[in-house]
Amino acid sequence: MGRRIGMWMYSNSGGDKIEKKIVKKLKERDIDVITGINLRHAIVKKGHILHGKTKVDELDLFFSYNAGEQTQYQVYLYEALSRVIPTINSFEAFRLTEDKFQTSFLLQHHGIPTPEFQLCHRDDSKQLNRIMKKWSKMVYKPTDGWGGVGLTKIENEEMLNMLMPFLNQMDLRFFYVEKFVKYDNTDFRVDIVDGKFVGCYGRKAGKRDWRTNVTSGGSVFKREPNDEVVELAIKAAEVCGIDIAGVDIIYDQEREEYVVLEVNGIPAFATPEQEKMGLDFNDRKIDLIVDLIDRKTRKRKKK
Ligand SMILES: Nc1ncnc2c1ncn2[C@@H]1O[C@H](COP(=O)(O)OP(=O)(O)O)[C@@H](O)[C@H]1O
Ligand SMILES: [Mg+2]
Repeated sequence: MGRRIGMWMYSNSGGDKIEKKIVKKLKERDIDVITGINLRHAIVKKGHILHGKTKVDELDLFFSYNAGEQTQYQVYLYEALSRVIPTINSFEAFRLTEDKFQTSFLLQHHGIPTPEFQLCHRDDSKQLNRIMKKWSKMVYKPTDGWGGVGLTKIENEEMLNMLMPFLNQMDLRFFYVEKFVKYDNTDFRVDIVDGKFVGCYGRKAGKRDWRTNVTSGGSVFKREPNDEVVELAIKAAEVCGIDIAGVDIIYDQEREEYVVLEVNGIPAFATPEQEKMGLDFNDRKIDLIVDLIDRKTRKRKKK
């Protein structure tokens, strides 16, 4: 029997067209694709994960690429599924990169520069005050956020003291904070697939915000990376054990080095508008993903 994989891909911002291209290229390699496998609508029965009539657990691979529509139920089934068939990304890598503290810790442990960070127990606000004295400015980050949402820049001790009651009210078990990095309000987003450099673009924060995220008013621009930036992104992806990654990098003006802000497990393809601006890495990314799926499913069939 031929190879068959399942896919769940975002459809907005040109995602539908990308999906069609991937499906076509896989077909050319005799790999059939069942698209639209949203685990949100799957059920578990007699040791199988059923999506309509499809036994998802009997497919040769599951390709999950939809950040916007993720639900807890969906992620929970993704975890179960990953125990029985290969998934891209692997669930382990997906879960790791969904968490900023876990990722920064692992990167730093492997000698990859990240902003200085601290994890504080919720009852230890004194520690936060001590760090604040040392750093002078910090960023509070929800460990599981994205799009710059919830990030709070804390400019001085007064502000920290003012914020503490609110943070305490949020009933968190811990606080994750980073030293505020002095940088030029631009970043590099470097896409890596299967350990290989795919493409890069830059983002610049809007006039009224310090965050580069498009959702925070940032804008995308064409940007060539240097070897150092590419190297750093490849290493970060490797340490995270992640097949597909979008690595966010900024230049720390005080330390005079590049630092990795985060690793994204579902980095968006260039949108049609961005392609018009010259972001031309989509085809290369598609080819590398197709190669990757081909290799991972071939290995499995041989077993
Ligand atoms: N430690 C920091 N110092 C200065 N700016 C930061 C720091 N961390 C994040 N930022 C800014 O905030 C943006 C969002 O942070 P990031 O960690 O990538 O989270 P998100 O998942 O929300 O994108 C970054 O693109 C960068 O512009
Ligand atoms: Mg980011």
